[in-house]
Amino acid sequence: MKIQILGSAAGGGFPQWNCNCHNCHGLRQGTLNARPRTQSSIAVSADGVSWILFNTSPDIRAQLESFAPLQPARNVRDTGIAAIVLMDSQIDHSTGLLMLREGCPHDVWCTGRVHEDLSQSFPIFRMLEHWNGGLNWNPIPVMPGQSSFVIPQVPELTLTAVPLTSSAPPYSPHRADPHPGDNIGMLISDRRSGKSLFYAPGLGVIEPHLLPYMEESDCLLVDGTIWRDDELIHAGVGTKLGRDMGHLSLSGQGGMIEFLDSLERPRKVLIHINNTNPILDEDSAERAELERHGIEVSYDGMSIEL
Ligand code: MLT
Ligand code: MN
Ligand code: ZN
Repeated sequence: MKIQILGSAAGGGFPQWNCNCHNCHGLRQGTLNARPRTQSSIAVSADGVSWILFNTSPDIRAQLESFAPLQPARNVRDTGIAAIVLMDSQIDHSTGLLMLREGCPHDVWCTGRVHEDLSQSFPIFRMLEHWNGGLNWNPIPVMPGQSSFVIPQVPELTLTAVPLTSSAPPYSPHRADPHPGDNIGMLISDRRSGKSLFYAPGLGVIEPHLLPYMEESDCLLVDGTIWRDDELIHAGVGTKLGRDMGHLSLSGQGGMIEFLDSLERPRKVLIHINNTNPILDEDSAERAELERHGIEVSYDGMSIEL
């Protein structure tokens, strides 16, 4: 299985257009040892030809230009994107569908909750009906025991959706009223190699039902949004805690680093990094701490092969 990191930043990207925090300022000035990053998205393929796009970021145009296998190769109008999977209905994960309108119809896989948000409060599904058939919705089941499925265009990969406690977007009626299916994690298994990836760019709470998936996968690509729970307040850019936004902080007791330390088997990689996070500075003490724990930070253009 081939995994391409198209975008490794959280909503807003890095640098964020209106942000002058320590990191965004330092990146613009060239005084910070860090890479710019686009908003969270990955592409996964078994054969390197047909790709499943996980999340459609507002930065999708630049992401497609940066990765040749997704570009037209066979016909006058063409794409390597065989299907699209949405992990939630957040703006940074769904807005790119609007940029993909010229290629409609697209097969889009998401839960009923995400489909509802994207049909009512942010009605992309209804809007795109006006572009050549729009989006074909394929429901992702999230009930225990019926959550595995195969996308016919990429039959080598089995996908298993796992309900997560994170947050629906601020615009959603479910923001303060969470339901299973607002956010999912995904176990992606390659039946030929037997290898698997667990992907969860928004992960607020490590619940017991996640453990078997995370312990047994070969690679984790998980929420690295913030270093500390009060990071936005500390950086002077916001008032919300990480937990209010459905993101578990990396540091501290009960944090992501402590949890990842308890897992023996998987390669550990962080994604969805917010622009305020000190780990973006490759010379920071926080980045050195991740290295000591064997935890990698994904970057735009990173390829992982399992
Ligand atoms: C989040 O996951 O909380 C988002 O990155 C927020 C956003 O896109 O504005
Ligand atoms: Mn996000
Ligand atoms: Zn910033």
